[in-house]
Amino acid sequence: MARVLTGIQSSGKPHLGNILGAIVPAIALTKQEQNESFIFIADFHSLTTIKSGKEREEHVRAVAAAWLAFGLDINRTVFYRQSRIPEVAELTWYLSCFTPFPMLANAHSFKDKSDRLSDVNAGLFTYPVLMAADILLYDGEIVPVGKDQLQHLEITRDIASSFNHKIGEDLLTIPTPRISEDVMIIPGTDGNKMSKSYNNYIDIFLPEKALKKNINTIVTDSTPLEEPKDPYSCNVFKIFSLIGSKEETEALKQKYLGGNFGYGHAKKELLGLILEKYRMERETYAHLMEHPKKLEDRLEKGETKAREIAKGVLGRVRNKLGFC
Ligand code: ADP
Ligand code: TRP
Repeated sequence: MARVLTGIQSSGKPHLGNILGAIVPAIALTKQEQNESFIFIADFHSLTTIKSGKEREEHVRAVAAAWLAFGLDINRTVFYRQSRIPEVAELTWYLSCFTPFPMLANAHSFKDKSDRLSDVNAGLFTYPVLMAADILLYDGEIVPVGKDQLQHLEITRDIASSFNHKIGEDLLTIPTPRISEDVMIIPGTDGNKMSKSYNNYIDIFLPEKALKKNINTIVTDSTPLEEPKDPYSCNVFKIFSLIGSKEETEALKQKYLGGNFGYGHAKKELLGLILEKYRMERETYAHLMEHPKKLEDRLEKGETKAREIAKGVLGRVRNKLGFC
């Protein structure tokens, strides 16, 4: 049995790209019998950019509700907020003292962020150490992440090895990254990769009217209604085909090819598909967002378990470093 652990940023409300590209595949991984899984919301990390507590809390709730709505089973997965296990901050300090400064200075995500952001704070710089603590605090063995996080995982492995080497004992578990090569890239309303930062996303949890408006922003060309259309170059069709069954997609394709079928019609079909296919998820999400106490209870369950494990690992580290 391997311990699979991963963190998700709470930087906004999850969109269709996050759901199909990250949430659904991760939940599938938690369902594999042989794995024990830990999934947490990295809200301490999001403090590097989001300073409003109210905004952050709102994002945390939305992220948690989305994972639960898509079927994350809290009886099989330890699901928790990073900030509720303060031991992670203490471990971050210890690990910082075993982290060579140039390793952080050369991290490309820091370089990217310091070029892009106006608030270049020390939290952005030490971000990878907190991430290492997230993993090492729970003896995480397999860490599924996107390619952009690979360097952070390498840093985690280096910090853990350097720590073990310096204290002369294999006290920290060295994790292995798992990068899925075949991740689907979900296109956004403008055909580019769907992303919060491009503001081209579909939010499937919106109430029906607002969702309709959201879908109407999908960019299409100006082929007249009567003319046949090429489904493969159409953003509506691309999104539809990632959600619909083979049969539903084929039926829509025929309508494109047949003519007398406008993009407005296609958008209506996409709306219908989302409402039908994600009916339960939308209901569960809305229910949880309206009942924050239920969300809180579910998260607290994971936090009790996570904290127990964290205390054990941190105790080992404190002991070894002579802080008992
Ligand atoms: P965003 O680009 O909207 O800020 P994040 O970078 O927070 O999204 O991504 C969170 C997770 O969702 C990551 O695992 C990322 O790989 C996945 N993800 C984001 N956008 C897409 C997309 N368009 N297609 C597939 N996966 C995506
Ligand atoms: N940095 C990750 C991201 O932006 C989120 C994250 C924080 C994480 N801590 C982690 C991922 C630990 C895996 C393991 O996506």
